[in-house]
Amino acid sequence: MTVFSREQKQHKKNEDLKGIFYLETYGCQMNVADSELVVSILNDDGYQQTFDYKQAEIVLINTCAIRDNAEQRIRNRLHVFTHEKKHKNLKVGILGCMAERLKEKLLDEEKSVDLVVGPDAYRRLPQLLTEVKSGKKSVDVALSKSETYDDLLPNRLDNNGVSAFVSIMRGCDNMCAFCVVPFTRGRERSRDPESILNEIKQAINDGYKEITVIGQNVDKYNWKNGKMNFAQLLEKIALLDNAVRVRFSTSYPQDMTDEVLHTIAKYPNICKYIHLPVQSGSTRMLGLMKRGYTREWYMDRIKSIRAIIPDCAISTDMITGFSSEMDADHQETVSLMKWAKFDYSYMFKYSERPNTFAHRNLPDDVPDETKGARLQEIIEIQSQLSLESNQRDVGKVFEVLIEGVSKRSAERLYGRNSQNKVVIFDRHNAAVGDYVQVKVLDCTSATLRGTLVTQSA
Ligand code: SAH
Ligand code: F3S
Repeated sequence: MTVFSREQKQHKKNEDLKGIFYLETYGCQMNVADSELVVSILNDDGYQQTFDYKQAEIVLINTCAIRDNAEQRIRNRLHVFTHEKKHKNLKVGILGCMAERLKEKLLDEEKSVDLVVGPDAYRRLPQLLTEVKSGKKSVDVALSKSETYDDLLPNRLDNNGVSAFVSIMRGCDNMCAFCVVPFTRGRERSRDPESILNEIKQAINDGYKEITVIGQNVDKYNWKNGKMNFAQLLEKIALLDNAVRVRFSTSYPQDMTDEVLHTIAKYPNICKYIHLPVQSGSTRMLGLMKRGYTREWYMDRIKSIRAIIPDCAISTDMITGFSSEMDADHQETVSLMKWAKFDYSYMFKYSERPNTFAHRNLPDDVPDETKGARLQEIIEIQSQLSLESNQRDVGKVFEVLIEGVSKRSAERLYGRNSQNKVVIFDRHNAAVGDYVQVKVLDCTSATLRGTLVTQSA
């Protein structure tokens, strides 16, 4: 296994520079983590990254395919690079989920594209780029049952230097009826715990204060047939350094165990925040969506969280207007939201995705207007719920990990509390990366505003 240190990489870069690349990333945290691997792979091979596409000889776009509008956005963005290609020798590569979904077709549909690479083929990027530079068009969209990029040390892209994402699994086997992810990211596989822990230790050595472990369904983490489950992995990570926060995403209602909840409750450095996508409050819709649980099961999971981790914040994902959704189903979503008092929700209009179970078997029969009206309604409800959730925090003191300087004023800093809420406060002597105690004085539906009490570390 070859793992280069930062200095060695720099040295290699200067020695034999093969080209300058620019990389743009869309979509989820998994894509961010993958882009960090891509940078690492290309650096090791002698390519150098630029953050200004005008300086680049190669433009790479790591794409998302989850909804049609995500793909449209990328196609629009491509116009810029098509234009750029007119007056210089530039190669354009599409990576990630859209590459995997469209494969060779992408070369026909988008003439500016030279390279198409799926999420399991990044190790071949150096070879594929050599082909592309010689004037060929290249495609590698092979999916793997085992690739977890274990031996690669990611080149972290986030510039706050405070929080790092670490992937613990790849792919998804759930096959929710609406979802394209199992097709774009392939079979579910867990990564070797030793390599996960090594990567996290390295991030801690590099000064990171918060580690978010990610997978499409972290509750199904399973190393070597039960040798280690998610609760056990989480515990090992929490024990590495009690001054480093641990977060995770995403939990799945069917698979989230009380064992995981007890582990979260036991360790102060595991953040008290769970993202538990429900998608709909109607058991009929959940059946059609092939989610594998009922409204009552989901409510039971929420009750367990509240009982085992009383100060836990909960967020969710919702889809409006899935196949055959009626007003009665929608009302069940509304009532579930109010019952659960979600602290935050990510809400979407259903977007039919080619080749999914729903596309093949269920009509996309809810008018766009109705999808939009239902979405608007739940956005307003969530905004009220978020406001009420934040109002309950006024007067409380939270430990906040500082992430940066407020965009509005250099005199203010922002960070998050354990519950993942953004807290803004006056700077004083505090610095990015510090833990501080902040007393909440007021709030909006989006943020808490407070004042520094004492600096804790
Ligand atoms: N388990 C994954 C889910 C990925 S997709 C995770 O890591 O979060 C994120 C969210 O996008 C889903 O929870 C769902 O609410 C939404 N979504 C997925 N497919 C969709 C579609 N076809 N139309 C609209 N929203 C969709
Ligand atoms: Fe998609 Fe369901 Fe997996 S939403 S990512 S198929 S858990």
